[in-house]
Amino acid sequence: MADAISLFFSSLLLTTTFLSLSQAQLDDQATMAALQKELSVLDWDSNQPDYCTWRGVICTGTGTNQSQSVQELNLSHRSLRGNLTLVSQLKSLKKLDLSSNSFNGPIPSSIGGILALEFLDLSMNHFEGVIPSSFGSLSSLISLNLSNNFLSGGIPEGLKNLENLQELQLSGNNLTGSIPDWVGNFSNLRVFSAYENGFTGFIPKNLGSVSNLEVLNLHSNQLEGEIPASIFKSGLLQVLILTVNGLSGSIPDSVGNCKGLSNLRIGNNRLTGRIPTSIGDVSSLTYFEADNNNLSGEIVEEFALCSNLTLLNLASNGLTGMVPDKLGDLKNLQELIVSDNGLSGKFPKSILRCRNLSKLDLSYNKFTGPLPENLCNISRLQFLVLDHNSFNGFIPGGIGNCIRLLELQMGSNYFTGAIPPEIGKIRNLQIALNLSFNQLEGALPRELGKLDKLVSLDVSSNQISGPIPQEIKGMMSLIEVNFSNNRLTGPIPAFGPFQKSPQSSFTGNSELCGDPLGSTCRPNYGSDYDDGLDGHKVSYKIVLVVVGSGVTVFAVVSLVVGLFMLTEKKEKEAKAKMAIQEIIEPPQILVANVFVESLRQAVDFDTCVKATLKEANKVSNGTFSTSFKAVMPSGLVISVKKLKSVDRTVTHHQNKMLREVERLSNLTHKNLIRPIGYVIYDDVALLLHHYMPNGTLLQLIHDVGAAMKEPDWQCRLSIAIGVAEGLAFLHQIATIHLDVCSGNIFLDSNFNAFLGEIEISKLLDPSKGTASISAVAGSFGYIPPEYAYTMQVTVPGNVYSFGVVLFEILTSKLPVDECFEEGVDLVKWVHGASARGETPEQIMDARLSTVSFAWRKQMLAVLKVAMLCTDRTPAKRPKMKKVIEMLNEAKDS
Ligand SMILES: *[C@@H]1O[C@H](CO)[C@@H](O)[C@H](O)[C@H]1NC(C)=O
Ligand SMILES: *[C@@H]1O[C@H](CO)[C@@H](O)[C@H](O)[C@H]1NC(C)=O
Ligand SMILES: *[C@@H]1O[C@H](CO)[C@@H](O)[C@H](O)[C@H]1NC(C)=O
Ligand SMILES: *[C@@H]1O[C@H](CO)[C@@H](O)[C@H](O)[C@H]1NC(C)=O
Ligand SMILES: *[C@@H]1O[C@H](CO)[C@@H](O)[C@H](O)[C@H]1NC(C)=O
Ligand SMILES: *[C@@H]1O[C@H](CO)[C@@H](O)[C@H](O)[C@H]1NC(C)=O
Ligand SMILES: *[C@@H]1O[C@H](CO)[C@@H](O)[C@H](O)[C@H]1NC(C)=O
Ligand SMILES: *[C@@H]1O[C@H](CO)[C@@H](O)[C@H](O)[C@H]1NC(C)=O
Ligand SMILES: *[C@@H]1O[C@H](CO)[C@@H](O)[C@H](O)[C@H]1NC(C)=O
Repeated sequence: MADAISLFFSSLLLTTTFLSLSQAQLDDQATMAALQKELSVLDWDSNQPDYCTWRGVICTGTGTNQSQSVQELNLSHRSLRGNLTLVSQLKSLKKLDLSSNSFNGPIPSSIGGILALEFLDLSMNHFEGVIPSSFGSLSSLISLNLSNNFLSGGIPEGLKNLENLQELQLSGNNLTGSIPDWVGNFSNLRVFSAYENGFTGFIPKNLGSVSNLEVLNLHSNQLEGEIPASIFKSGLLQVLILTVNGLSGSIPDSVGNCKGLSNLRIGNNRLTGRIPTSIGDVSSLTYFEADNNNLSGEIVEEFALCSNLTLLNLASNGLTGMVPDKLGDLKNLQELIVSDNGLSGKFPKSILRCRNLSKLDLSYNKFTGPLPENLCNISRLQFLVLDHNSFNGFIPGGIGNCIRLLELQMGSNYFTGAIPPEIGKIRNLQIALNLSFNQLEGALPRELGKLDKLVSLDVSSNQISGPIPQEIKGMMSLIEVNFSNNRLTGPIPAFGPFQKSPQSSFTGNSELCGDPLGSTCRPNYGSDYDDGLDGHKVSYKIVLVVVGSGVTVFAVVSLVVGLFMLTEKKEKEAKAKMAIQEIIEPPQILVANVFVESLRQAVDFDTCVKATLKEANKVSNGTFSTSFKAVMPSGLVISVKKLKSVDRTVTHHQNKMLREVERLSNLTHKNLIRPIGYVIYDDVALLLHHYMPNGTLLQLIHDVGAAMKEPDWQCRLSIAIGVAEGLAFLHQIATIHLDVCSGNIFLDSNFNAFLGEIEISKLLDPSKGTASISAVAGSFGYIPPEYAYTMQVTVPGNVYSFGVVLFEILTSKLPVDECFEEGVDLVKWVHGASARGETPEQIMDARLSTVSFAWRKQMLAVLKVAMLCTDRTPAKRPKMKKVIEMLNEAKDS
């Protein structure tokens, strides 16, 4: 009642405003001129009196010049802010698009007075406060988009009058209260999304019963109660996303009505009951994600009827029985995740018929029996996760055929026999090899040394015997290792990653000796130990709980999820388009965007994709991403970073993360590489950047055959200053870079320095660590010592990493260089120089310091700065602003 009265008064108020306006004889001409002034719209030419020609303005086609009124106003993506109250004087406005600007403060309630409005888009701004109740007057509105602002409060009762709404988007705000039941009475509603808010209560129980609902996305709220069967009634639902709520009850049988439902995501709720067999009728089903619920019964074989099914995630439920043989029919299945249930039976061999499978996760179940020898017939497999089951028998030698495998988890089973040497054939293995808690015996195969990308190796708690082979030093990327509780003997090889590991990685092997166990080996144990470690104490041991490269994985996951979430509709459209095209064009772009207006015409997405398919275009290869050079038909050359295949199941604020990426593209600093766009196809994400023809600082300093002939100190110093300025700018806007290293410093044709990989810092907020990746370490050799205790990258931590870059520039040595003793990195080596009785001249690259007296002097000054930056005590390190000052002083000295 009170609401009705206030609505009445506000409309009364609006009416009087209009009267006074018409008395003042303000026509659209005057309004547009005033708007132009208020919002400072750059490309609106006030010398051109015909405002109907201004960009983004469409007037009614009829009438004399005088009476031409503005019908559509589109000011999206124009970096605007200011007072929008004036807009409401454009009385004939039907379409108003102000999305993706910087408007802030409350939404002017006068917008509710533009009674002719049919389309209103205020999304992607900084509006705060409540949704004005005056919007209840917009009874002609067909589409309302308020998503991605900072709105709070509830959905006002007045919106009940918007019965003609077809699309209602409220996602990404801080809205609370319940979703009113009358939303279910909107008979034209096709799209309703309100995800990432704080809505509570039930989903309106009649939602969809009187309308043709196509998209319903309410994920990441606090909704409870059941999934109303009404949403499946019309049978036209295409996308249903309800993840991360508190929904209970079972999945309604009527889901089978929706033949066109391609995306069904209901994970992270409290759903119970069996999966309805009617799921087999949902013939378009592509993604089914219902993990972290309390579903029971068996995995229904009707899933096999959904021939387009790509992802099936049923992890962490109470499912029992076997994996149905029929699932082997799913030709398009890429991910089967059934971990943490009560599933049993033998390894589901039929699944090996799914040749597109890239992830198989059977972990934490009760599977028994041996693994099939031809396990790796699925050549695309990247993640094989079998841990915490009761598998037994030998690890088949055929495992070596899984050449694309990134992660192999076989821990906590009953495997026997030796580790097959074929394991060395899995050259792509990167994330982890875990064989712990089995009954493996025999020696460690020397072929393990071929796994030069592997970051984490765990063979603990088996009965493996014999020495740790010297060949194992080939595992160049190793950070985390665990050999404990076996029967290993002899000296621990002198190998950086081993000596930096905690003792506990080697304990429980009574005849193992040497560092880091702290036990002395008997002299007859070979020379390696003697010359490598004798008398040398490793004084700092960073415990890397999580690998630095994990950052990228997480970023990719989030990005891709974000993009999928944001674009379910576009995905559908893209698919429809694909159907028209010929099949010869394999990768199907799901969504793509270029943020930079001036480059829109010049970037061709297909060319970006094609560039990544040719080995010859490869510029650099990181652990989880590969960069390619791509020449556009327009002649523009850009860099395309391909992030490798990912899991699409993380659901955390992905939308906000995506916005951050786009926001980064607006950062204007001459020393930062900003993302200029992205392309998503299949499950691959490509990030587009400006191309840097001179590679990275890492290549400049360390590549023997690099383009630069003679090392040039002046060039290096100006690179250092540029990077310092980029980093200082990031700190100024409260952004911490998560991976400052010379490999992330890019050089343009004039050797100007650009700090790259800044999107990773935005995509991952370490303070909000997730279960999968709880911390970030950065690159090896650049990690500040305090990280071992704080597990957080901080502003002083960035300064430390920058100091390491300065040392690289000065010494031309790598942060972890082969020429150092074990356990010594570049920082320790430089800091320890005076104790070793060495002069700075012996530290600095003589090819630079001996060229001129002036260079030597500058280098000594920079050395001082680098020493300060790498102080062990974070608080003693200078701020980046100070560092810039000192470097400039050094330059002028
Ligand atoms: C509208 O009036 C302006 C001058 O005020 C004139 O330049 C323009 O051609 C007129 N446009 C039309 C469509 O009559
Ligand atoms: C507004 O213009 C942008 C391009 O600048 C376009 O993408 C968008 O669809 C337009 N909005 C409307 C409502 O037509
Ligand atoms: C915007 O302008 C109107 C008058 O045009 C004024 O009443 C209102 O207070 C202004 N709003 C803000 C936030 O400045
Ligand atoms: C806002 O929502 C409308 C209706 O669903 C849609 O057409 C428009 O593209 C959305 N705006 C943005 C910026 O995504
Ligand atoms: C969202 O609203 C809640 C309660 O209304 C408030 O505590 C919280 O700070 C708000 N969050 C943001 C990001 O505005
Ligand atoms: C929805 O419409 C029905 C039928 O017109 C009506 O009985 C019911 O009260 C309405 N529900 C709400 C919440 O307005
Ligand atoms: C599977 O997907 C393809 C391509 O998107 C589509 O043409 C086909 O109709 C889909 N199949 C079913 C049964 O929906
Ligand atoms: C899940 O369901 C089982 C029985 O079906 C019940 O015992 C258990 O408490 C439920 N767990 C939760 C978290 O609801
Ligand atoms: C893999 O999936 C594609 C469609 O994404 C399909 O055309 C192809 O037949 C599948 N491959 C196999 C071996 O089934």
